Amino acid sequence: MRQVADWLRALGLGQYGQAFAENGIDIEVLPELTDRDLEQLGIPLGHRRKMLHAITALDAAASGRREAGDASAEADMAERRQLTLLFCDIVGSTALSTRLDPEDLRLAYRAYRDGCARVVDRYDGIIAQLLGDGVLVYFGYPRAHEDDAERAVRAGLDIAAAIGWLKVPGGRQVQVRVGIATGLVVVGDLTGPGSVQKQAVVGATAHLADRLQARAKPGTVVVDAPTRRLLGEVFQLRALDDMASKDLAEPIEAWTVVSEAASESRFDTARAHGLTNFVGREPETRLIEERWQLARRGEGQVLLISGEAGIGKSRLAAWLSERIAAQPHTRLRHQCSPHQAMSAYYPIIQQLKHAAGFHADDSVAAKLDKMEAMLALSAANVMEVAPLFAALLSLPSEDRYPPLGFGAAERWRQLLVALLDQLEGLARKNPVLLVFEDVQWADANSLELIGLMSKRVARLPVLALITYRPEFEPPWDELRHIIRLTLAPLDRVSARAMIDSLSADVRLPDEVTEQILAKADGVPLFIEELTKAVLESGQTDAARRERLDGELPPLTIPVTLQNTLMARLDRFAHVKEIAEIAALIGREFPYDLLHAVAGCDRETLDDALAQLEAAQLLSHTGVPPHAHYRFQHALVQEAAYESMLKVRRQLLHRRIADTLCTRFPAVADTEPELVARHLTEAGLTDAATEWWSKAGR
Ligand SMILES: Nc1ncnc2c1ncn2[C@@H]1O[C@H](COP(=O)(O)OP(=O)(O)O)[C@@H](O)[C@H]1O
Ligand SMILES: [Mg+2]
Repeated sequence: MRQVADWLRALGLGQYGQAFAENGIDIEVLPELTDRDLEQLGIPLGHRRKMLHAITALDAAASGRREAGDASAEADMAERRQLTLLFCDIVGSTALSTRLDPEDLRLAYRAYRDGCARVVDRYDGIIAQLLGDGVLVYFGYPRAHEDDAERAVRAGLDIAAAIGWLKVPGGRQVQVRVGIATGLVVVGDLTGPGSVQKQAVVGATAHLADRLQARAKPGTVVVDAPTRRLLGEVFQLRALDDMASKDLAEPIEAWTVVSEAASESRFDTARAHGLTNFVGREPETRLIEERWQLARRGEGQVLLISGEAGIGKSRLAAWLSERIAAQPHTRLRHQCSPHQAMSAYYPIIQQLKHAAGFHADDSVAAKLDKMEAMLALSAANVMEVAPLFAALLSLPSEDRYPPLGFGAAERWRQLLVALLDQLEGLARKNPVLLVFEDVQWADANSLELIGLMSKRVARLPVLALITYRPEFEPPWDELRHIIRLTLAPLDRVSARAMIDSLSADVRLPDEVTEQILAKADGVPLFIEELTKAVLESGQTDAARRERLDGELPPLTIPVTLQNTLMARLDRFAHVKEIAEIAALIGREFPYDLLHAVAGCDRETLDDALAQLEAAQLLSHTGVPPHAHYRFQHALVQEAAYESMLKVRRQLLHRRIADTLCTRFPAVADTEPELVARHLTEAGLTDAATEWWSKAGR
């Protein structure tokens, strides 16, 4: 009680000490007090306000201490995330364990686990749990990738294949089943320090992956519906019969992975279901068209097209392809892959295989025949270069061609020359459209080759289109025929046209269109995915008229964008917390408020902000401490916000409200609605009501 009396005195309200004591109000109860309670004690409005204020501060300080201290703070640092989980299990492990000598069994399990670990590592997943012969793997944590679902499936297929090689005594083969499910989970050190089970997952997803695994045929991979959506058309899938599960309320749809779909570009596979009408980009298309005309006449051109993921680089390249479809030309498309950034000449090899028309079941001899036929289109000396290309394509050819007779270094050099000659040979017959997509993922050899090709095309009828993301800096010389193009977001008119064409059959309410425009910030990928999500959830004009309240649910982040957005934030694991606190303040936030709430020193803060800005997640005006920052994309801010646990969000909202009142009274005074909003989000309804009414006044 004395503590309370002291606290009141400090507020200059010592006269109420008696009343508080008589009503048994101690320091524990203080945070529970509402405005009504205080009113019943006969305290006038002004004083009530002062007290409630101080209570908020007290409480925030207390939770701040909690946060800094024990294990519950770690729980607060856990995250909400969309994860793709893979569960893999050995078929007939019980039978195996009775049949095998324990020592042999141990060896077999170890080989199996090592095999899994190697594969999982390759796709940047983490093994979260080993349960006997069951292995649970996370994709998307601690680092999200745009293609976590694809990674999970590739890992599943690789594990199934690798285990096929594992022989146990008795000569029998071991097989696994793999189940993959995607969903929202909570991850983090849920069990506190010293626990074996780090990063535990809470949620039905892990359970589901296990159930799906049980449904898989030995040696196959089965995925759930959200995973299938994320996969797009990368794999061929076959639906399994509805899966009635004992302990899950609804039957679960599941698909088994048949094979990888064959295509030469990621853009094609991701967009196999038709394209929206091409909109906007007039200056860019005009420029590209002009350059193509120049190139066709023998003045080769190189266009370097940069822009963030989903801004429309591939679509622009596709536009040119369509545009010139009727003109005689040769198109060579090269697609780099995030999984193959270290494998030499990967995009070149893929292109050659595609151009030659290899089939998976072709014999080596058949492939060599096809390769020679392809080379004959561009080279007079087919037999001279054939062994180089055969080696590049990993086709054993010792009995077909004489040995090369020189060392590896010389072989690489000759290969470069041969590849350049091949381009030149093709260009002599027909103009060439040479495309390299996503060269931020190109291996060093390919980069070198692209540089040499860029130089060589100056006097050839070749237009080279090279696309990449902003974080990539082209290492090639600046030359007159090389032009850089940076794609900006679409303007509102074009963005609206995209929404209209996507929702052609149904009319979207104007507010919904506005919401999509505001959230997508002109990024075509965001526009598409948000519009599709709205259409799927049935937020059409007609549907709205049927709802009595006329209210529409708020737009949430579609499943298909979750990973893309998280991947952008995860690149900055160590400064992510700053981004999160900023996201909580709002799309725009003043430097000084962030500084006060984050409670770190200025150097750390400045460094974090500089990194986020360099990655184009933030932009700013003004000079700290009076600078103003802004999230480049509303969706990135939202993703950062959504990834925090609700309890942590509430806590930080409270801290922001408190900081505004105590450190920025002028702001709190002129913008009471700001304080009110944070109090509302903090779940402090009574205090919020007061501030809202102040704002009303
Ligand atoms: N100008 C445009 N008009 C219509 N749709 C577009 C346009 N630009 C991009 N899109 C669509 O937006 C999505 C993302 O574009 P994409 O070219 O794949 O981006 P990037 O290659 O830069 O990652 C694709 O579905 C694409 O069809
Ligand atoms: Mg692309």
